[in-house]
Amino acid sequence: MRILSGIQPSGTLHIGNYFGAIQKIVQAQEEGDLFAFIASYHALTSVKDKEELKNNIFEVAVNFLASGIDPDKCTFWVQSDVKEVLELYWILSNHTPMGLLERAHSYKDKVARGKSSHHGLFSYPVLMAADILLFDSEIVPVGKDQIQHVEIARDIATSFNHTYGNFLTLPKSKVDEEVATVPGTDGAKMSKSYNNTIDMFASKKVLKKQVMGIVTDSKGLDDVKDWSNCNIYTLCKLFMNEDELKTLQKRYETPGEGYGHFKLTLLEKVTEYFAPFEKRREELLANPEEVKLILEKGANKARKLAVAKMILIREAVGLTY
Ligand code: ADP
Ligand code: TRP
Repeated sequence: MRILSGIQPSGTLHIGNYFGAIQKIVQAQEEGDLFAFIASYHALTSVKDKEELKNNIFEVAVNFLASGIDPDKCTFWVQSDVKEVLELYWILSNHTPMGLLERAHSYKDKVARGKSSHHGLFSYPVLMAADILLFDSEIVPVGKDQIQHVEIARDIATSFNHTYGNFLTLPKSKVDEEVATVPGTDGAKMSKSYNNTIDMFASKKVLKKQVMGIVTDSKGLDDVKDWSNCNIYTLCKLFMNEDELKTLQKRYETPGEGYGHFKLTLLEKVTEYFAPFEKRREELLANPEEVKLILEKGANKARKLAVAKMILIREAVGLTY
């Protein structure tokens, strides 16, 4: 089963990104033939600074590898290293009614939030369809906000197949309903745009500042506290087993400790959880050539399939003579 997912290169990853997306993609390596790529062309719709984009691509590659992406178990590459996707993007554009894109929530939301509207942003779902269809993807694991984009890819593929024959595989999105939205330090959705993150790879000092900044009510040491309604506890659930959670509940219910103590427990847990990732990350950061080699090998693997698929598609539409 071919599983494909793309990740936009945003430099710092937080634990919401990890539990909401990265962990699922890493797990997919064990479930099927995983194709995972860094959506560098997509990032051009928002990142306009050359150094920032370059650094982000490298950072996100390192962070994904450190989080468990194993290049021997999957195909892992940078989108813009396999340019065939742009040819398919253009061909598919001619099977994409304007109305289909005009209805895209993600585009409408971004414009409503003040992002400047340009053709790249508008046609973003067509490029995403090309990513998916170029590799005959069957399953596309995504967050809820991306379901509509996978539906758009299906619609485009259906229209293409109707015109030229059954060349494209119709993809299905896979959304993990179990994955609750990870709250940020202020209780709202954790997001890099809200300045409320706990980062996966922050320095000790920054991590401590982030965890100690979690918003709680003002109950003191001698009060009994409500764990069921506490941001610290909700975050602890991501890192603790049942027994550990029971112990923590008792601590909330027994006067004598304050929120600062619970925060330190969470800090310990976060540090412990990501320590092995951190070790691998440091090795990779010290060896950029190793990272580049992994990405180059991944691109070569992906390109082979992409070139073969484009030969069929060029022939199907009449670009051969
Ligand atoms: P951000 O909101 O920080 O900009 P992105 O939009 O770049 O994050 O999200 C990248 C991936 O991480 C998406 O698949 C998204 O569903 C997931 N994700 C982001 N924030 C959270 C969160 N707070 N809880 C669960 N998943 C999240
Ligand atoms: N649009 C996706 C996001 O922002 C990233 C992405 C690009 C993607 N191409 C894709 C995801 C293809 C799945 C399949 O999260």
